[in-house]
Amino acid sequence: MMGVVFTTIAGGEALPAKNDAGIIPAPAKCEMAAGGYMVAATNKICWRGTEAEEPAKFLCAGLKERIGLELAMSGLTQPHPAPAGAIVLDLAPGPFVAEAYLLKVEPAGITLRAGSAAGLFYGVQSLLQMAAAAVAAPGNPLKLPAVSIEDSPRFEWRGLMLDESRHFFGKPAVKELLDVMASLKLNRFHWHLTDESGWRIEIKKYPKLTTVGALGNWSDAGLPAQFYTQADIREIVAYAAARQIVTVPEIDMPGHATAACRAYPELSGGGTGQWNGFTFNPAREETYRFLEAVLREVTALFPGPYVHLGGDEVHYGNQCWSTDPEIVKFTQAHGLRDAAGVERYFARRMAGVINRLGKTTLGWDEIAGAGVAPAQSAVMWWRHDRRQVLTQLLEQNYRVVLCPRLPCYFDFVQDASHQQGRRWNGAFNSLDDVYQVPEAVTAGLIPAGKETNVLGVEACAWTERIQNRERLAFMIYPRLAALAESAWTPAGAKDKSGFIGRVPVFLRELDRRHIPYFDPFKPARTAEPAGPLKKAEGTANG
Ligand code: ACM
Repeated sequence: MMGVVFTTIAGGEALPAKNDAGIIPAPAKCEMAAGGYMVAATNKICWRGTEAEEPAKFLCAGLKERIGLELAMSGLTQPHPAPAGAIVLDLAPGPFVAEAYLLKVEPAGITLRAGSAAGLFYGVQSLLQMAAAAVAAPGNPLKLPAVSIEDSPRFEWRGLMLDESRHFFGKPAVKELLDVMASLKLNRFHWHLTDESGWRIEIKKYPKLTTVGALGNWSDAGLPAQFYTQADIREIVAYAAARQIVTVPEIDMPGHATAACRAYPELSGGGTGQWNGFTFNPAREETYRFLEAVLREVTALFPGPYVHLGGDEVHYGNQCWSTDPEIVKFTQAHGLRDAAGVERYFARRMAGVINRLGKTTLGWDEIAGAGVAPAQSAVMWWRHDRRQVLTQLLEQNYRVVLCPRLPCYFDFVQDASHQQGRRWNGAFNSLDDVYQVPEAVTAGLIPAGKETNVLGVEACAWTERIQNRERLAFMIYPRLAALAESAWTPAGAKDKSGFIGRVPVFLRELDRRHIPYFDPFKPARTAEPAGPLKKAEGTANG
């Protein structure tokens, strides 16, 4: 997993390949042509179809930010032709698969066609990246190269997970992240809102979850409560949706429940020391009533089709499940053999609750053996060292999101020189490693005929070692760009050296947004921000 590419390019920036409009993720098909389109203040942005108006507004605002020109906008009705030189966004139901778009940049004008608002939005992102590349290149900053692009994503799930339990980043940082995700055509924001360090989402029925459970963070137990109100949650979900991003809430259970059990100790599954209250008590009906009420409020806040119930690493803190008389009695009464059986019971029961609330259940790969219905669930394969689990999940017809620790965990360092972050037996997650997803991690593991059960890929930003926006950005960028290309671009159209040639424009865009990052072209000159002070006790996040 050691990166090799960037040692050879440090100090010099590669040039874009020939058939390359400078876009990340690289389009499925891209043909450059002669000449280009001059953006002029007199050109108009026109749209056809009401759903085309919002993408047109994004284009207008985005061009103003990048090239300083604010073009006039107007809606067109058929059969009125667009004025000469216009940029036309056309919502045209037709032969388009979901999220696909066609973009033609010609000297006489620009046409962007798609069958959905999402397709138009992604075409706009491509156009804005071309504008950013034009501004960054020597020569005429307002000339977009002529090109014909036919584009659609490889995977429907292109995700990033953010852990706001260990450290809380707040609305501006989350919106900034969503903006960059959208520019990279990522479409799933997986929000890890509850865990040991803090419960970060207001639940009206259980106010102590935030008045008590949101106190402190991984570095400092003494901090005042930090959490999102329900109004904040609605605001973020809407902000993401406007950028074609579905927000997926995670309420971790039955383990990683420490913050909830601090607030409501009667729900605790016991334990001592570091693991006191790590799990909910699986023997109490009150636990299930509590969780169902929480999930009712959560499903009302998140209109997307998924709710994530966690399900990971229960064994870290469920020792009491084998000794506590109440839990032992429960185990026997339900014909369960042991604590692992109770864990499976818990996952099945809560997945059923989520399904009855009208949502698809997501869980970490530990829920695999629980008997959760494959048709109503999807699983995140994260334990890269349990390779056969991926094969078994696919064989059992689960839809699977690939997020193996190596190389999809962005709390791992990305350069050999970095000190603040995780490694696995010395291995870390370089930009190059992330670019090898999914082939490098799934080779030999996907049973024949089950390829379409792979929903997509996701990067996970766990935050024990990331305490603020600056470190978060440093750990995420530019690896998120490689993840995006792995998620969007068909395997046959991926080209590592072309990608490397496009990274500098992505970095300039981060500069324009005042977002810090690790610069793989100048590794020795990018200072690594200090990590958080280590808490006395360890963490469960394996
Ligand atoms: C995990 O990293 N515990 C899913």
